[in-house]
Amino acid sequence: PSVIVKKLFLQGKVVTVNQEIDYDTAEEIAMEFDVLCEKEVVVDVIEELLKEDEEDESKMVKRPPVVCVMGHVDHGKTSLLDAIRHTNVIGREAGGITQHIGAYVVEAKGEKITFLDTPGHEAFTAMRMRGASSTDIAILVVAADDGVMPQTVEAINHAKAAGIEIIVAINKIDKPSANIDRVKQELAEYELIPEDWGGSTIFVPVSAHTKEGIAELLEMILLTAEVMELKANPNREARGLVIEAELDKGKGSVATVLVQKGTLHVGDAIAAGSAHGKVRAMTDDKGRRVKEAGPSQPVEILGLNDVPNAGEVFVGCDTEKEARNFAETFIAQNKVKLLDDTKSKMSLDDLFNQ
Ligand code: GTP
Ligand code: MG
Repeated sequence: PSVIVKKLFLQGKVVTVNQEIDYDTAEEIAMEFDVLCEKEVVVDVIEELLKEDEEDESKMVKRPPVVCVMGHVDHGKTSLLDAIRHTNVIGREAGGITQHIGAYVVEAKGEKITFLDTPGHEAFTAMRMRGASSTDIAILVVAADDGVMPQTVEAINHAKAAGIEIIVAINKIDKPSANIDRVKQELAEYELIPEDWGGSTIFVPVSAHTKEGIAELLEMILLTAEVMELKANPNREARGLVIEAELDKGKGSVATVLVQKGTLHVGDAIAAGSAHGKVRAMTDDKGRRVKEAGPSQPVEILGLNDVPNAGEVFVGCDTEKEARNFAETFIAQNKVKLLDDTKSKMSLDDLFNQ
């Protein structure tokens, strides 16, 4: 509360801890904090890592695009993901086996696409902060019968800030009340202008229910990915992001990670934020045991000594000792931040005690 009071104070609004503030002010603050909290934890480490990450162009090979689906509540993100999952060969082969992880690989026209399941708006906010590098393309879902809504706008802003390519999927076109042109008009205000209107944004009218347009959407994703020339070096130590992690009573720490560079193997020493360990076992998005995972591949791993936070960077290390050092540095870094936070709280109290 003290941080919020301070923030408002600096804006010239003097409030007390138990005072009610209006919705708009609360929203403004909440958005700022999303940005601040998530970013600070990750950024230093990422920056540190990127420094030594200049890659030799000759070692880079094509990798699948990583795509997230976002949009306003109830516009059909989950339905669209389901439709995509069921129209692809791998999905059918899996025979409806429950997805173990919030990320999965779809194959279209012989090419792979990695989808990160970001149901609900808040999850996407976190996802965005997992670094622009975690996602290449965002599918912006807008319901044709509802049009652009507040969270649509927010999603656009997030995607733009992260520098992600946006493909618009106008969903629910099977509905009698669908109005595709209205959606195009509304999105034009946000500089998302369809190609047939002289712009450069790809719009695909779809229906998650009838599956109309799904194949075209996948095609457009592949086309966009082709233009982006997404590449990574698979022959180096693995590096990527933690998508989600939890403690399982039997298995211990279970983390879903997205490999971004290099290849992660069973037996590799690894550090993920504050956690470290040795990869004991890996499972792919179809629940199959795998021995290795390359660029753009999401896998569930066992073997970490602790549960890392979503969004933290993971790195493959040469030795377990190196992994432990990395985790300890990370923990120390975050302690400094906590102290900093406490300090600013103190100074605020001082401010009000005067
Ligand atoms: P949140 O996760 O809550 O943000 O919602 P969501 O965007 O994932 O939407 P969801 O897929 O849960 O769909 C919301 C509602 O819209 C459900 O009742 C779906 O059946 C319906 N719906 C989704 N896609 C279509 C579509 O193409 N056509 C029609 N007619 N209804 C759809
Ligand atoms: Mg959903």
